[in-house]
Amino acid sequence: MSKHFLSRKLSTLILTAALGTFSTVALSHQQGDWIARVGAATVDPDESSSLLNVSGLGGNIADSGLGVDADTQAGFTFAYMLTDKLAVELLAATPFKHDVTLTGSGIAGAQPGLPDGSKIASVEHLPPTLSLQYFLRDSSSAFKPYVGIGINYTVILDEDLSAGIKADIADGGLAASNLDVDNSLGLALQIGADYQLNDQWLLNASIWNIDIDTEASLDSAVGEVKADLDIDPWVYMLSVGYKF
Ligand code: NI
Repeated sequence: MSKHFLSRKLSTLILTAALGTFSTVALSHQQGDWIARVGAATVDPDESSSLLNVSGLGGNIADSGLGVDADTQAGFTFAYMLTDKLAVELLAATPFKHDVTLTGSGIAGAQPGLPDGSKIASVEHLPPTLSLQYFLRDSSSAFKPYVGIGINYTVILDEDLSAGIKADIADGGLAASNLDVDNSLGLALQIGADYQLNDQWLLNASIWNIDIDTEASLDSAVGEVKADLDIDPWVYMLSVGYKF
């Protein structure tokens, strides 16, 4: 064998090995990587409400409460790989807007204009969530499931009462004003997975269960109305990610 042949053979081997290593390295999440993901995020409340407490109607109203509907917005996550298997991730989104409704027919006993299901408000919030994530598999596989645990801080940006409950008693409302919904700090649990398409691009699906407990209150012609509301939503996000 000529020296020339050997060196060609050797350089082919080295190149093959280098490419092999390169593609494994590129597919894996590695310490120091940033991953940005953008997609659609749905906040689907699994709410439970206390009875409405109405100071001018003798306290708790039987068969009453609050309900919250779901909303979908643009979601973003930014993750940083602390090690090859541990990441810290921030969930961000455009503001979610939820309808708040009366549940039960307790309030209708005092005001027939506000039956079960009446929309009484819309509430806008942002639920930034910071999580520590653990990737479960060898990082060189394209499918990368993970679990996460984190802290959620839900910031109420805007709370607007609906015309129906703002109307005077004679017009079927409660002359409601000054709706206040508290911000919430709570635990967030997460499962999700990245599917690496190539060196940079990936698909992601992620689910959070977030503990969001709040108190809502408003003033009205029948005194202060209050309820404890555990929103405790499931948050679903499908996204496309880019690693750099
Ligand atoms: Ni809760």
